[in-house]
Amino acid sequence: MKDTITIQDVSKSFGKKTVLKDISLAIEEGRIYGFIGPSGAGKTTLVKMIVGMDAPDQGSVHVLGEKMPSLHILRQIGYMAQSDALYTALTGKENLIFFASLFKLSKAERQNRMAYAADLVNLTSDLDKKVSAYSGGMKRRLSLAIALIQNPQILILDEPTVGIDPELRISIWNELLRLKREEGKTIIVTTHVMDEAEKCDHISMVRDGALIANGTPDQLKEQYSVNTLDEVFLKAGRIVQ
Ligand SMILES: Nc1ncnc2c1ncn2[C@@H]1O[C@H](COP(=O)(O)OP(=O)(O)O)[C@@H](O)[C@H]1O
Ligand SMILES: [Mg+2]
Repeated sequence: MKDTITIQDVSKSFGKKTVLKDISLAIEEGRIYGFIGPSGAGKTTLVKMIVGMDAPDQGSVHVLGEKMPSLHILRQIGYMAQSDALYTALTGKENLIFFASLFKLSKAERQNRMAYAADLVNLTSDLDKKVSAYSGGMKRRLSLAIALIQNPQILILDEPTVGIDPELRISIWNELLRLKREEGKTIIVTTHVMDEAEKCDHISMVRDGALIANGTPDQLKEQYSVNTLDEVFLKAGRIVQ
């Protein structure tokens, strides 16, 4: 397995506050990585470094062998930010068309991708409504559809299932698992929900800007001699304090 993303000794401060402390992590191709941690832990900051939206103070991030930020690599990443960046005066469909137009898709491909993405997030029947009339969950779903539009090899999803009902959450997770299994996509998901963490191949627990535990769900439970990831998180947090 080759590494798709390499994070090396990354640190970041905002003013006097250190938000990421010396993070190193190798992300293998074709797997789902979960960045798990409470609000304020530094997950979004780390994700922004990977997509090249923010630069580390120290250390480096490489994606597909290129140092980030790299415009060329951005095309291969589907990024869903934690806060929705949508055109609210436009309809859902118009948003999809706009974001699809940023990528060099043929017309047929664009139609296919739009239909696939809208269906996946169960928005097909709401596509002609203005986004300003969407609920919070619908906006999250549209953001996810946009992240998938260009069929990227790497998906980076920052809290993708917040505000999404349980049934749709399950179908989104099933699709992420399928994308990994059948299409070899590399997927990073941030979450603070431990039952989602269980579905990941690899978990990186983040607390106060530090990586406090790293491994497969089973490895972590074994390492800390516990039965749940919640307990791993509590134990790992206590040990580093
Ligand atoms: N642009 C910024 N300026 C100042 N502080 C920031 C900025 N972005 C994030 N932070 C702070 O960094 C910490 C980590 O935030 P974040 O990465 O959003 O955590 P998480 O996504 O795990 O909730 C928080 O204390 C947050 O207030
Ligand atoms: Mg966040």
